[in-house]
Parts: sequence; C-alpha cells; structure tokens
Amino acid sequence: MSRITLVTGGMGGLGEAICMKMADMGYEVATTYSPGNSKVTAWLAEMKQKGYTFRAYPCDVASFESAQECIAKVVKDMGPVDVLVNNAGITRDMTFKKMDSTNWDLVMKTNLDSVFNMTKPVCDGMTDRGWGRIINISSVNGQKGAFGQTNYSAAKAGMHGFSKALALEVARKGVTVNTISPGYIGTKMVTAIAPEVLESKILPQIPMGRLGKPEEVAGLVAYLASDEAAFLTGANIAINGGQHMQ
Ligand code: CAA
Ligand code: NAP
Repeated sequence: MSRITLVTGGMGGLGEAICMKMADMGYEVATTYSPGNSKVTAWLAEMKQKGYTFRAYPCDVASFESAQECIAKVVKDMGPVDVLVNNAGITRDMTFKKMDSTNWDLVMKTNLDSVFNMTKPVCDGMTDRGWGRIINISSVNGQKGAFGQTNYSAAKAGMHGFSKALALEVARKGVTVNTISPGYIGTKMVTAIAPEVLESKILPQIPMGRLGKPEEVAGLVAYLASDEAAFLTGANIAINGGQHMQ
C-alpha cells in the first residue's frame, strides 16, 4: 500500500513541484488550498492532463480548527498521513519602521502557527504506527535574516526550533522531523519582488548567479521522505546556490 503525503500549499510554485515529485516516487498525494481559491478545479484538471491524480482540500493553515477538519477529511478519504510537508507560506515584506501588528500576526500565524496546527493532528498517529516524516519548508532568510522581513525571518527561524524540539521527542518512534531552508527559488513569491531589487540586491548574493528551481527543492523533500533518510532528523538543510556561505 502506498504511503500518503499531505503537502500544504500544493498549488503554489514549490508545492506543485513537491506534489509531482512525491507522486513520481509512488506516494498518494493530497494538498491543501486556501478556502475560496477558485483555481482548484482547473489546477486539478491540469495536473490530471499531466498524468497526476491529486486530492485537494480547503484549509486555512493559520487556523487550528480548519487544519483539524482538513486532516480528518484526508484521513477519512485516503487513510492516515505518513508524510506531512508544511509548505504553505506568505510574505508581507516591509521595513520594521512600517511593520504593524496586523502584518506581523498574519505572517506568524500563516508561516509558524500553521506548523503546529497541521502537525498536531498527524503526529500521534505517526508515532503510534512507528513511521512518519514531517518536513518543514523554512527559508535562507530564517537563517540569515533579510531586509524588510522581520516577520518572515522570525517565523521561518521559529520553524526550525520546532523541528529540533519535536525531532527529539519522536526520535525513538520512527518519525523524523526536518527543516529545509531554500534560498531564492523562481516562484511567484520571488518574481513578485521588484525587478530592480532582485537584480541589484538579491542575485548578486547568490554565488551560482541564478534562482533555484522548484524541482531542486522537491528532490530534497523526496529524499527526506524516503526510508533511506531514516537516520536524518532535526536537521536544517540549506539549498540555496551557495548563498549560505556568504
Ligand atoms: N539591503 C539594504 N538596503 C535596502 C535593501 C536591502 N535588501 N532593500 C531596500 N534597502 C534600502 C533602500 O536602498 C532604501 O535606502 P535609502 O532610503 O537610503 O534610499 C531604503 O532601504 C528604503 O527602500 P525602499 O524605498 O525600497 O523602501 P520600501 O519601504 O518601499 O520597501 C522593502 C522596502 C519592502 C524591504 C522592499 O525593498 C522589498 O520588497 N525588498 C525585497 C525584500 C525581499 O527580498 N523579500 C524576499 C521575498 S522572497 C522570499 O522571502 C522567499 C525566501 O524565503 C527566500
Ligand atoms: P507560492 O507560490 O506563493 O505558494 C504559497 C502557497 O501557500 C500557495 O499555494 C498558497 O495557497 C498557500 N497558502 C498561503 N497562505 C495559506 C493559508 N492561510 N492556508 C493555506 N494555504 C496557504 O510560494 P512558494 O514560493 O511556492 O513558497 C512555498 C513555501 O516555500 C513558503 O513557505 C515559502 O515561504 C517557502 N520558501 C520559498 C522560497 C522561494 O524563493 N520561492 C524560498 C524559501 C522558502 P493559495 O494560493 O491557495 O492561497
């Protein structure tokens, strides 16, 4: 029987590549989308045309109740979640001078509280069954900080604190918890940055001189989800074109 993977934000740039890679590796794949996202039917049809059959569930990852309801539906339709990829995330970039509590809270709830909200309903099942993978998609900006991202950098750094603490608690139960910290990847989150900022401030910081590809991150997710990665836990793996060395 194939294992079940749940990817939050699977309709986004990174999430879609992760869903496809996990399906290629033989997992059954479910994803979440924001309630009210009208593109879901078209996206599922587009994926079907490419040979991928995914299930998609509405979920506001920032809400504990919504996460619980979503996971209950996934379990009812597909079975227990074996691999959880906490990928959904947003940016609300502004200097700290301009940062208000609304944009602070929104990013903390969506990028950090979501990790608790989604992991809580699946973690006990994983430890009871003696196998599970929790993979948290953080960011290079959680490791090094970024101008205009006090909210995002704090939330992304917090994700890794969570990974390390939970990894300790479930290490003897066949469950691994890891963080991936991608650098700048060519999705709409990055293409939304003003071109002059991208050209002058960001690309020069990347030794490889290019943005990463979603497929490059998806390959790492697939490895962490595999049986081969059973001894790897509590790690924060940088995948950023060498930016980490700067
Ligand atoms: N480093 C140093 N200085 C910077 C800077 C930077 N990265 N960005 C802007 N500044 C400076 C400007 O040069 C300017 O300086 P002066 O006042 O001396 O002219 C000052 O800061 C104000 O800049 P702006 O006029 O651009 O200010 P703003 O308030 O309109 O916007 C900003 C500020 C929101 C931070 C904007 O510059 C911006 O969007 N920057 C990009 C932020 C970014 O990289 N986000 C990453 C998104 S992708 C992502 O997050 C994925 C991931 O995980 C990797
Ligand atoms: P993206 O294309 O904007 O996708 C983000 C996804 O998150 C979307 O599918 C979105 O779903 C979902 N989402 C946002 N808020 C949500 C909520 N409240 N509830 C449920 N889903 C929600 O961005 P991406 O580049 O693929 O980013 C994916 C993850 O990688 C994020 O956590 C991001 O921080 C991280 N990351 C990205 C980069 C990069 O350079 N791109 C680098 C490092 C880390 P809807 O569209 O349905 O709202």
